[in-house]
Order: sequence, then C-alpha cells, then structure tokens
Amino acid sequence: MSKKITVNTIQKYKNNKEKFSVLTAYDYSTAKYIDEAGIDIILIGDSLAMVALGYENTNAIGIEEMEIFTKAVARGVNHAMVITDMPFLSYHKTESEAVENAGKMIKAGANGVKIEGATDYIIKVIKHLTEIGIPVMGHVGFTPQFLNAIGGYNIQGKSYEATLDILEQAKKLEQAGVFSIVLEMVPEESAQYITEHLTVPTISCGAGKYCSAQVLVSDDVFGKYSEFKPKFARQYGDMKSLIFNCAKQYNEDVKNGKFPSEQEVFRLKEEELKQLKLHKDNQTNSLR
Ligand code: KIV
Repeated sequence: MSKKITVNTIQKYKNNKEKFSVLTAYDYSTAKYIDEAGIDIILIGDSLAMVALGYENTNAIGIEEMEIFTKAVARGVNHAMVITDMPFLSYHKTESEAVENAGKMIKAGANGVKIEGATDYIIKVIKHLTEIGIPVMGHVGFTPQFLNAIGGYNIQGKSYEATLDILEQAKKLEQAGVFSIVLEMVPEESAQYITEHLTVPTISCGAGKYCSAQVLVSDDVFGKYSEFKPKFARQYGDMKSLIFNCAKQYNEDVKNGKFPSEQEVFRLKEEELKQLKLHKDNQTNSLR
C-alpha cells in the first residue's frame, strides 16, 4: 500500500483538484478492510452512537467511548488518515478541557479530530488545538450535535443569505487553521460556491458532487444500519441480509446437528482415546 495520508496529502488533493474519499469505521477489522480498499480518511464519527451503540442520537456518546473505538480503528489502519469526532460536551466547557480530550484522541491513535460548529468559542478552541499541533477537521451546515437547537434533520444553506452565512463560518474555520471542512446537508450549488471560495478542501456529507471529497457512514454504505437512511447515502451492499442469513443458517445447523462437522472438531490421539475408554470401562466395572 502507498504512503500514509497526512494533512499535506489532503491539501495536495485540493490544490490538484483531485477527489478524495472519507468513510467512517468503528472497529478494528472494518477499519483494516476499508484502509486496504484505499479510503483516504477513516473517520470514527460520533454517528457510532446511533449505528453501533443504538443510541437515539449522537449527543449520547462520551469521550471514554470515543477513545475505545478510536484505539480499535487506529490499530487496523496503515495508510489512511485517522480522524476522530470530538463528542458533544467534550470541548464545550473550557479550552483546557478541549485540549485534554483532543489529546486523549491523539494518544488513542487518531491523526486529528473533527469539531462541529463555528461559534466564536469553537473558533477559539480550534485555533488553540491547531496551534499545539492537533489537526482539526471543521464541520458546518447541518451539525448533528446542535440537533435540539436546529429543531430537526433540516437542510442548511437553503437561501442565498444562508449560503453566505455558511461560507463566513467556513472562512473563520479556515483562518483558525482547520485542514478540511465537512459540509453537511447543504444544497449542491451552495456547497460548490463555498468550496470555490476556500483554500482548504471541503468534504460533502449530502452536499453534492462539487466538494473536494465525499464522506458517508460505513453502515449506510454496507447496508447494515436500517433504522434511518439519509437521501444522500448510497448503499453498496446488503450486510443486514448477509448477517441475518448467516445467523439463521447457523441457528438451524446447530439445532439440526449439522454444526460442527468432522472438519470443525479436534480429535484425541488414538492412544489417548484407548486410555480414556479403558478408564471408562474400569469405572463401570468398579460400580458393579
Ligand atoms: O458522525 C459522523 O459519522 C459524521 C460524518 C457523517 C460526517 O459526522
């Protein structure tokens, strides 16, 4: 496999107008396979709260859980850049808490963190993190951690003014030092305009084809998570059926005595078996 992807590779992609790919992963083996498939950035998104842990939304997950899953993913990756989401309330109280928690993610094996929003406080936090050498991916447009304030899974940047507003937020993020920016659920034309006015790459999450990159949640791509399917998510496989069918067949095989087969058991050596039989016969005789 080629060299490790870094912030420099990502910026080169933007400069050369080359598209790159971002996909989420939450465990070691998935991370290993999607890394081998050539994905450029593997994101331990806080979407893991919903798709892997069954929470109702992403605000339920904490830094300790993100740390465990980041460690698992990082162990599986050789080539891709590994970015972890900073979960809800892990960077919102003080700058020093943000540094401590982002530091935990780097120590867990991430090459950078993703932070949602672009309020004055968040810009200050991002500036601080980038100054101490922690690469930050920004995230504007629809920001799931603000779900309660936004009032639903609503498309952002739907008007000319709203588009300029997101561009202004993105510019602030760029000045604070982010190496890339996720644009989530933004009309394609707005995302194109924003992308053309930034020097850092944009990553589309339902923001159309003119962004520098695309990101999807792996459970949507694999067809594993079935509770909710965003309009912009393309399903490439049917893991839900695969898992269901495998488990069904296994259940039947166990109950019909078809599992395990001759190839799936360990055998005693002939001599040991003889001894065991002898032992059994002796025991039976002594009981008579
Ligand atoms: O949590 C997540 O997986 C994300 C991406 C979909 C951008 O934030």
